[in-house]
Amino acid sequence: MFFSKKKQHEIDMSRLPEHIGIIMDGNGRWAKRRGLPRSAGHSAGAESLKKIITEANNIGIKYITVYAFSTENWKRPKDEVDYLMSLLLDYLRNAEKTLSGENVVIRAIGSREGLSEEICKQIDKTEKFTSKNTGIVMNIALNYGGREEIASAARSACADVQSGKISVDDIDDKLFSEYLYTKNQPDVDLLIRTSGEQRLSNFMLWQVSYAEMWFTNKLWPDFKPADLHKAIIDFQNRGRRFGGV
Ligand code: IPE
Ligand code: IPE
Ligand code: MG
Repeated sequence: MFFSKKKQHEIDMSRLPEHIGIIMDGNGRWAKRRGLPRSAGHSAGAESLKKIITEANNIGIKYITVYAFSTENWKRPKDEVDYLMSLLLDYLRNAEKTLSGENVVIRAIGSREGLSEEICKQIDKTEKFTSKNTGIVMNIALNYGGREEIASAARSACADVQSGKISVDDIDDKLFSEYLYTKNQPDVDLLIRTSGEQRLSNFMLWQVSYAEMWFTNKLWPDFKPADLHKAIIDFQNRGRRFGGV
């Protein structure tokens, strides 16, 4: 275990959030402050991600979803998009070795449309390679948009109505969830966003309906395991009512 004994005592291990979502923001500003190109911020961000996944797995978190590339991020300059895609490809390749050794189950969530064949193949390979692992499930939200996810779920549900597999009246909140990328996974309990921005930017619109939100001004490459501890401890000090009293 990598986390210190002291912190271990502070986190209540019997009340961990089951699913943590992270909007990893601020790579560009991190680089700018250092007079570096934005790409350097993205590389530093990828390093940060490795440490946080390892830590979350060690703590015993069951699911983590990290926002790596949104359906809106295609608006960025081609150079930056290409760099992000090459980093993601490297990440998936390395994850197959290193994170799999740590028993992590890796899944990519998002649309395949617009992704290169190379990335799609690597996603399939990494998902298959890690599917038998039993540790934390890591969803990498890649070419992901919450609205796209809901629209795509609606299309699939409609197709099942047309083919007679389900009837319109069967569609409720529970059944609809099974058409989402996060099928069979619990909703997000704790949503973390770095860099001081306080918005969802199209992240997991369905799954965060009752998530506790936690914001920090720290930029993603500066986000450390100790910050994850802090977020979890704050989460455990909140009263969740889910509409009750
Ligand atoms: C987050 O950092 C990473 C991605 C969106 C891929 P940004 O690149 O958005 O960094 P800032 O917000 O410009 O600082
Ligand atoms: C959200 O960050 C997307 C990811 C972290 C991958 P952005 O930097 O793209 O979001 P906005 O543009 O500030 O809302
Ligand atoms: Mg940003």
